[in-house]
Amino acid sequence: MKINVLFSHINYDELYFTSKTAVVIDILRASSTIVTALQNGAKEIIPVASVEFAVKISGGLFSGQTIICGERNTKKIEGFALGNSPLEFTEDKVSGKSIILYTTNGSRAVVKTKFSENLFVASYLNLTAIANHLIEMNKDFEIVCSGRGNTISLEDIVCSGKLITEVQKLKENVQLSDSAKASISLNKSFGKNILKMLKETEHGQILIENGFEKDIEYCSKLNALEAIPTFSNNALRLLSPQKLVA
Ligand code: MLT
Repeated sequence: MKINVLFSHINYDELYFTSKTAVVIDILRASSTIVTALQNGAKEIIPVASVEFAVKISGGLFSGQTIICGERNTKKIEGFALGNSPLEFTEDKVSGKSIILYTTNGSRAVVKTKFSENLFVASYLNLTAIANHLIEMNKDFEIVCSGRGNTISLEDIVCSGKLITEVQKLKENVQLSDSAKASISLNKSFGKNILKMLKETEHGQILIENGFEKDIEYCSKLNALEAIPTFSNNALRLLSPQKLVA
């Protein structure tokens, strides 16, 4: 098994992901939100790469069962049902709903990787569930860090290192790219206290300034959930139990 980490998806073309297994990570906060929404009963999440497209497709979907969610500069977009705070995506708000989701980096990373043969979304919340599934699949995979704009997000890379470390605990002969080795090293340096690390990152600081400290605490909860979001037919849904390799 070979593992590679893309510190950012920005310089990659959509076609790069064809035939690959990709795992998208945006710890603060899109991947944590996606995992939470599906765990709380959302029917599906339709990630989009622009606000305009979110509004456009919402018109053609059955309105009562479809909600548009997302953020700009961390804040809920005017007219949208919810923002991008995972704590907003409670069972009463999302159960049975199709969620159209736009976020500055995370939803765009999922859209970028849409041609992958297998596409999953990981966070600290569902880390071991994802690691176990990747081990069972036994395929090479690429971890795609969402980053921020044209730059990296430390928290995505540190979490990548933890995910690889989990896989290595149970899987022998794992081949690591240079970026995968660097992620493991960054996890050793920064990943011992996840909450502290998240609060001290650039994005963590922005979230604190905007009143979202509780989100950071939530996003730091290791293995609180078991949901495995997987992408097909333009939407992320829970990996169905029969598709879980026994
Ligand atoms: C993103 O996609 O850039 C983030 O999830 C932004 C946020 O913290 O809401």
